[in-house]
Amino acid sequence: MTAPDGGARRASMVETVQTTDGFLRHAGREFLVVLYTAFRSLKLYPLENNQVQKALDDLWATTRHLLEVEKELEVRLQGEFIFVNSTRLRLDLDNYASFSHILSVLRQCGIGAVRVDEGVDRKQLQQFVSLLLSYGAKEATPNKVHELGQKLADSGVTHIGVEAPLETDEDMEDSERQKEAAKRTYARSVAVTKEVINSIRMGRTANVKKVKRAVQGIVDQVLNNEGSLVGLTTLRDYDEYTFTHSVNVCIFSVALGRKLGLSKLQLYDLGMAALFHDVGKSRVPLEVLNKEGGLTEEEWRIMQAHPWLGVLTLFGLRGYGEIPYRGMVVAYEHHMKSDLTGYPKSLRERTMSIYSKIVAVADGFDAATSRRVYQTTPIQPDQVLKEMWENPRRGYDPVVVKAFVNLIGIYPVGTCVILDTYEVAIVHSANADVSHVHRPVVRVVTTPDGALLQPGFLADLAQRDEQGNFPRTIVKVTDPAKYGINVSDYFV
Ligand SMILES: [Fe+2]
Ligand SMILES: [Fe+2]
Repeated sequence: MTAPDGGARRASMVETVQTTDGFLRHAGREFLVVLYTAFRSLKLYPLENNQVQKALDDLWATTRHLLEVEKELEVRLQGEFIFVNSTRLRLDLDNYASFSHILSVLRQCGIGAVRVDEGVDRKQLQQFVSLLLSYGAKEATPNKVHELGQKLADSGVTHIGVEAPLETDEDMEDSERQKEAAKRTYARSVAVTKEVINSIRMGRTANVKKVKRAVQGIVDQVLNNEGSLVGLTTLRDYDEYTFTHSVNVCIFSVALGRKLGLSKLQLYDLGMAALFHDVGKSRVPLEVLNKEGGLTEEEWRIMQAHPWLGVLTLFGLRGYGEIPYRGMVVAYEHHMKSDLTGYPKSLRERTMSIYSKIVAVADGFDAATSRRVYQTTPIQPDQVLKEMWENPRRGYDPVVVKAFVNLIGIYPVGTCVILDTYEVAIVHSANADVSHVHRPVVRVVTTPDGALLQPGFLADLAQRDEQGNFPRTIVKVTDPAKYGINVSDYFV
């Protein structure tokens, strides 16, 4: 009778670990956000200011709560990550600013870890924040963290300690580091796109230089390691469809342009054009843009004006380049279809530019696979590719579609699949060997009985067992929501 008991114990242990992990992820993030707010307000206002006092109250409350549950609090930097009591915190759009700021302040002070013990009080937290503020501004010296530690002790801060970083940076796996770098590029690109589109919407001058830098970041990253950034386009659970869509189309287009042999400078151009392909939508009223259900004829007319509204908008953008000629062409042509049956209607025969053909494919794929207001169930990626490839009325250039399939595989990263072992898995990366397009590397995320595994484990479907058989094979593609799976959970 030991087995069921052992099973139950194991199950409850797993549960405890997961709950602790979940709590720390949440409370840890909260801690960094309130620390950041305290830091910022103390930088701007004197101590007695209400906002500063409120920020310190929040910091104190969050710290107390964490200590009540965890008894100790350790914030450790490791490479590009922040760990709170050995739980790695996620970097996402909401906390990007606070995380990167805290990371840079701690680094500037030479700190690898901060420990807070039970017995700390509000006064000590306040002292700590003020000291960080003044040390963060000082020039870096090898002994800085020790000086700071001494200073903390001298000022009566007995329950907060700082440590130098461990020498583990090199241990950090390269792939992890690349993934994190990709995530930062992605988050930054979405943030600047949002800024620019919102400025245009409000009739303010937009800072196009920032966008240019973001696009250069995307191109560089795609040239160095195409996979990590393309994989991030599956993180579509942000509410901000307009901005993530532009960034996704930019990433797909650049990766596609690279496959088709464009030069780096051409890729910069293509990336800018792709990022701004829908810029005309910033002149479409939000009620029409975000309308649920069908559009009236009049609303369609407005919506279909976005290509040429885009051209007009680009005329007004300063700092884009000489004249954003390619961007204008792409904005104008991306819905035309290669047989010119799309919109705007062309009176004369014309050949779409290769940039427009590339952006059209990237655009079509991202739009069909995303969840939006008027499309609650995204279509599975393999179906979208099949349709693009097989239905000429969609109007995509076959050579470009072929290159796209080559780029992302038949089962694109993020596709949810059922295996012949009854396990459910998520495609992790395409197989480097082209003869194995049907056998990508997947992350198995459920047991054969359907119990969810987090984080699951990786399996290379092209690997044979000792008898020379494939232990796992994809049976079909499925909708992750059916199994309660949130695909983006497995990519962070
Ligand atoms: Fe469009
Ligand atoms: Fe689009």
